[in-house]
Amino acid sequence: MDGRRRALLAAIAWTAALPRAAAEERIRLKPIPSSGEPLPVVGIGTWQTFDVGAGAERGPLAQVLKAFVQAGGSVVDSSPMYGAAESVVGELITELGLRERLFLATKVWTRGREEGVQQMENSLGRMRAGRMDLIQVHNLVDVATHTETLKRWRSEQRVRYIGITHYAASAHAEVERWLGTGEYDFLQINYSLGEREAERRLLPMAMEKKVAVIANRPFAEGALFRRVKGKPLPPWAAELGVKTWAQYFLKWIVSHPAMTCAIPATANPRHVRDNLAAGLGALPDAAARTRMADYFDSL
Ligand SMILES: NC(=O)c1ccc[n+]([C@@H]2O[C@H](COP(=O)([O-])OP(=O)(O)OC[C@H]3O[C@@H](n4cnc5c(N)ncnc54)[C@H](OP(=O)(O)O)[C@@H]3O)[C@@H](O)[C@H]2O)c1
Repeated sequence: MDGRRRALLAAIAWTAALPRAAAEERIRLKPIPSSGEPLPVVGIGTWQTFDVGAGAERGPLAQVLKAFVQAGGSVVDSSPMYGAAESVVGELITELGLRERLFLATKVWTRGREEGVQQMENSLGRMRAGRMDLIQVHNLVDVATHTETLKRWRSEQRVRYIGITHYAASAHAEVERWLGTGEYDFLQINYSLGEREAERRLLPMAMEKKVAVIANRPFAEGALFRRVKGKPLPPWAAELGVKTWAQYFLKWIVSHPAMTCAIPATANPRHVRDNLAAGLGALPDAAARTRMADYFDSL
């Protein structure tokens, strides 16, 4: 091949690669309804995975956080209920210099006004947050008391957003009562192809009240992978930009119009890249979501 032809082919290959590379860099964002601030549609949870000691287990978690930010991730969800997780997140993001790139969320999980304040102060220190982006009342524990404190903290700008969480359909009626008060910026609730109850009343209500929604347990704590083990993705998954079951599960969740982001937990850097890739490209429309759910149900 002569030099000119080689140069021409190289130029074609370079320009062909450009739009794809540019598209691959950008994870999809959705706005927090109360402020318009955009958030990436895939975040990360820390229950169990980040509850580790000071030893070698931290190496892969540092890789997880690096890969997460490199892929455009931002929302990190923790809780004082998760053992050492808040401290491990705080120490790793300080070492890696990632604080400014992250939207840090934690929870309050205790009873009593003073106890709640003390716990939230501790969380700010443990996560090295400066100001916390989001604090949520964990599983509605003493929710009336903590909501008053959180509203005060939000008005004093000690926390940017406030919310409530739960993980079980049996509590959705009570969650609905609190969501109806209109006090919260965020709802965090269980929602996945394996747990769809939230779409009956909570998700429509969140849209009406302009509340951001975070899906916890997006893989039903890993049960969804066990359910599809050895089963192929449908041939039409590729048309949706879905290459793995993780992307199938996450794209289905975050394409619900009420949904702001999903927070899968992982201690595996390969899995974090897989999960964040669910935020690339188009999201399935309503017809595609139905087809995805029907296919999953048929397995
Ligand atoms: N009440 C509450 O507020 C509440 C309750 C439950 C959960 N949450 C939050 O929601 C987060 C997520 O829920 P969860 O931790 O119960 O479970 P989950 O995210 O539904 O599932 C986690 C499991 O999926 C596996 N996994 C992750 N990515 C994968 C991939 N790409 N391919 C294959 N396997 C993958 C993980 O294993 P690997 O480590 O091997 O990847 C882990 O076993 C929690 O960490 C927590 O932050 C909050």
